[in-house]
Amino acid sequence: MDGHLKGRITAMKKTRLVKKTAERKRELKTSRIPGFYRLSVEQRLAFLARTFRLTDDQIAQLRDGSALRVEHAVNMVENTVGVFGLPLGLGLNFLVDGREYLVPMAIEEASIIAAVSKGALVIRRSGGFETKIDDPVMAGQIQVLDTEDPDAAAAEILKHKDEIVAIGNEADSKMAVRGGGVFDVETRIVDGGEGVGRMLIIHIMCDVCEAMGANAINSICEAVAPYVQQVTSGRVNLRILSNLADRRIARARFTMPFDALATQEFEGPVVARRMVEASRLAEHDPYRATTHNKGIFNGICAAAIAFGQDWRAIEAGGHAYAASDGQYRGLSKFEVEDDILVGSIELPLQVGWVGGAVNTHPAVRTLRGISGVQNSRELAGLLASVGLAQNFAACLALSTDGIQKGHMALHARSVAVSAGVPTKDVEKVAEEMISRGDIKVSAAEEIRRSMDQRDLVTHSDHELPVESFARGKVILYGEHASVYNYPGIISTIDLGLVVKIREDAHGPRFVHPNFKQAFPIPNTDKDMRLFSRAADTALELYELQNEPIAIEVESKLVPGMGLGSSASFSVAICSALRQYKGVPRCGQWDRDLFEEAQRLESVFHGNPSGMDAATVLSGGVIWFRKGPPREMLPIRVRKTMTGLVCIVEPGVRTVELVELVQRKRNSDPEGVTAIFDEIGGIAVDAGIALGTGDAEAAGKLMERNHELLAKLGVSTPALDKAVDTLLDNGAYGAKLTGAGGGGAVVALVPSERQYELLEELSEQFALVYPFTLGAAT
Ligand code: MEV
Repeated sequence: MDGHLKGRITAMKKTRLVKKTAERKRELKTSRIPGFYRLSVEQRLAFLARTFRLTDDQIAQLRDGSALRVEHAVNMVENTVGVFGLPLGLGLNFLVDGREYLVPMAIEEASIIAAVSKGALVIRRSGGFETKIDDPVMAGQIQVLDTEDPDAAAAEILKHKDEIVAIGNEADSKMAVRGGGVFDVETRIVDGGEGVGRMLIIHIMCDVCEAMGANAINSICEAVAPYVQQVTSGRVNLRILSNLADRRIARARFTMPFDALATQEFEGPVVARRMVEASRLAEHDPYRATTHNKGIFNGICAAAIAFGQDWRAIEAGGHAYAASDGQYRGLSKFEVEDDILVGSIELPLQVGWVGGAVNTHPAVRTLRGISGVQNSRELAGLLASVGLAQNFAACLALSTDGIQKGHMALHARSVAVSAGVPTKDVEKVAEEMISRGDIKVSAAEEIRRSMDQRDLVTHSDHELPVESFARGKVILYGEHASVYNYPGIISTIDLGLVVKIREDAHGPRFVHPNFKQAFPIPNTDKDMRLFSRAADTALELYELQNEPIAIEVESKLVPGMGLGSSASFSVAICSALRQYKGVPRCGQWDRDLFEEAQRLESVFHGNPSGMDAATVLSGGVIWFRKGPPREMLPIRVRKTMTGLVCIVEPGVRTVELVELVQRKRNSDPEGVTAIFDEIGGIAVDAGIALGTGDAEAAGKLMERNHELLAKLGVSTPALDKAVDTLLDNGAYGAKLTGAGGGGAVVALVPSERQYELLEELSEQFALVYPFTLGAAT
């Protein structure tokens, strides 16, 4: 590398490192994570781990719901017998008062999280939510009976207000120190009806600061009661807070131009009008208002649970407030003002940032950290916005297509993804589940199996010739770190290898394979002997040692370049021999075929991770982690992306480089672990970049991945130069691929320039292969 280039790379590295450190300090800059729902659970968790620097324990606790152990639970409730679980998801897209929030939600009902995220997305496009939150004022009630004259007793109480306030603040001095505490006393007369008569009800008004307030207020009421009894000469019965927290109202609002509401079927103003009609029904009819508010609490309660709040208090307060003028009404409404839709919600929100489940439930702490919320006021604003987004999404759907269609489709898709259905089949499987009215993982699996059966190709026994093609592969991110159980991303490329089986009276015979050669490669003979040994293993595996056949191999892949020639050979020969024997293939992903190909792979690699054979077999872009348990999931690439693989120079055997990295790791464990951590993070981010079709981000991550591989010592001057050449020629990003020490580089390039670049670069490199991401998935 010349001095100029070296200087440029060092400068680039420096900028990127500085940027990285700055990024690490900050929190999530946006709650908009397109394609989040398309990621596997592991990818989502990996994203959270990286963004919020969560520990492995925290991640495991979220995944398995194991944060709250029975040892904690015994301190929380009586007669404990265990811990109860609920699904946990993230509501996305929340922009509230200009701040970004993720909303943890624990709920058993399908479609709620998808709907609230969709509602929040539409609302954020028009500027998000604005909130207005009252001070955290709660009332404690003291019930006084048997006074001679309740009105006179009330007047007496008001005369002694200062003393009552003082006794209350003595009972909970912490609240006063924090700037809150008891500040007022109010009285009400309530008629208890026959046998009880008129009662004096005293309200002890308290600013509970960051607490929900129940404990503090109950203690204050109990402390004040004897004095109240003395002043009123009555009898005190109940002393407890009121959950009708009508001095602690949270309000959220958004405005939206009509255009944002238009659907294929309805124009924006029509939808707006229908929303207003829906809102009016909830305002005037308690039958509808109940369902309307149920929908609001779908969101609020799910989030309240995940935030460790007393959701029963919130819900009871909300329902009571909804009936505050004597008729039960909707808590939110939609109105039209000057050609815009205005959505608003108003309800009491008694939420705390200190005390309660926060102290006892470890996952609550983690989830708060993820959410971006920092105090009880923000939490109230966010919950009000969640209620409004949930209600907006429901009313929008109800006023247009109806609720079932969208919800079912979303839910069915998510069930299909959870059942491991490959991305390309998700839509079909989801549709089938909907038409059967059976949306479950078991149904998705069953439908998938029957689709495989339909695709099944049966071949008559011994019909010759048979041919089988398997693609090559390229590692896009994560090599070397993957050996240490970090995730990686691999993709098949368009070119590959064909195994042909034809009649040969002198067989079985393995014809010297015809591989594409770029330059004289040392060890070629040794490599070819491995192919021959693998072919023998295959014949043995299928008990075909005495068959009159010849096995021919025609390959466009240069062996020893990290392009998966051994894996594609293993898959192709196993498929061909199975066809020859008439063994049906069980869909694209056939576990038996995979295991058989793995047996052959071990002839080449001793103890292969399975990553190459799995990619070659399933095709497309694959997320891979060695495990156990092995993670292997298709990544759906949103927009087709294009790339090039350039063969640069002869490579070194993989095992030598793996050993080199191992030695480096032994001598500098911390340094190498930091590199692996970053590479692992890159794979996670790249999964998202590919999933969202962000070629530029995917390219940048490739570039950084190359720098880290170079730091590990597996790059060479020729590979570095090749990377620079690709970047200079407009590639989004480039890196070495495979073990390194020579071999190939991979680059993502703008689609419109792929073939022009291919031609230009063919003059500089021994061979250049084009490939497409997203076409096969
Ligand atoms: C279902 O859980 C909630 C809805 O019924 C709410 C509504 O009707 O507004 C969809």
